Amino acid sequence: MIVNYTIKQIRDTISTFRKRNPEGTVGFVPTMGYLHEGHASLLRKARQECDVVVLSIFVNPLQFGPTEDLDKYPRDRERDLALAEQAGTDFVFMPSVEEMYPRPMRTQVEVSGITDVLCGASRPGHFAGVATVVSKLFNIVNPHRAYFGEKDAQQVAVIEQMVADLNLPVAIVPCPILREGDGLAMSSRNVYLSPEERGEALSLSKALSRLRVWRVNEELTFGELRHKMKDEIQKSPLGNVDYIEILTYPGLLPIAQDFTVHDADFDYIVALAVKYGATRLIDNAIVRQP
Ligand code: PAJ
Repeated sequence: MIVNYTIKQIRDTISTFRKRNPEGTVGFVPTMGYLHEGHASLLRKARQECDVVVLSIFVNPLQFGPTEDLDKYPRDRERDLALAEQAGTDFVFMPSVEEMYPRPMRTQVEVSGITDVLCGASRPGHFAGVATVVSKLFNIVNPHRAYFGEKDAQQVAVIEQMVADLNLPVAIVPCPILREGDGLAMSSRNVYLSPEERGEALSLSKALSRLRVWRVNEELTFGELRHKMKDEIQKSPLGNVDYIEILTYPGLLPIAQDFTVHDADFDYIVALAVKYGATRLIDNAIVRQP
């Protein structure tokens, strides 16, 4: 596994690979590090589908709000590299903030509409930061395929929209959410949770797993479904609900509250964000029509 720190180095590494393998496909997994099995699942999928696997590890200041956890975002370089190698990574790109942003940025990539809801509403500027860094990374790595987790389903929708709008020559591959044995969606931020919060944080995945049971009721409306989710989440007293929303997916449009769930002939997302102390957790389920 080759580890590169500068844009020039990683471009040279990838261009050497391309010269030797003109038909070879480049798979790319962008991350902010503190890797866990969720990240590893993206790397393994890229390993299966591509000839070379590139991982980026960069805690992107542009996507953090002024009161968010940028400075204390967890980092562990050695552990990350070991996990990356085990998952089959060929090249790692680990730039510094100065390398990615040597001067104040005057250009931003903003995807409108779908960034006004869910995490975009709670975290102003977040998705512009994500879309901007992902475009920079795509321009540096030039991947054929890029892998993103549905844990961040809105991020997948934003990146897919950006790629389509700007005709970027990359295929976006959405990957399923990886969970701990008890159901908690894996996240780098789970390490912040106290044992009590960790226990109660299960209410997110529990509420989502009850969806299937509730949806059996043919009369159930989207408004009622949302209430049931809310009641389930509010059983956990430490949790502070940021949002509980049901929207079309990937368009992220509102659905009339009195619309019957059984009559839905479109895909939709049930998305949750709940704060435990200072830790904001997200989880979701995407319901796809057969
Ligand atoms: P990060 O939070 O490190 O996540 C990197 C990728 O791993 C994302 O595509 C995310 O959806 C995926 N991922 C995280 N937890 C997962 C889980 N439990 N199951 C499956 N996939 C999971 O998302 C970012 O970084 C950044 O916004 C980034 C795209 C790198 C831009 O800075």
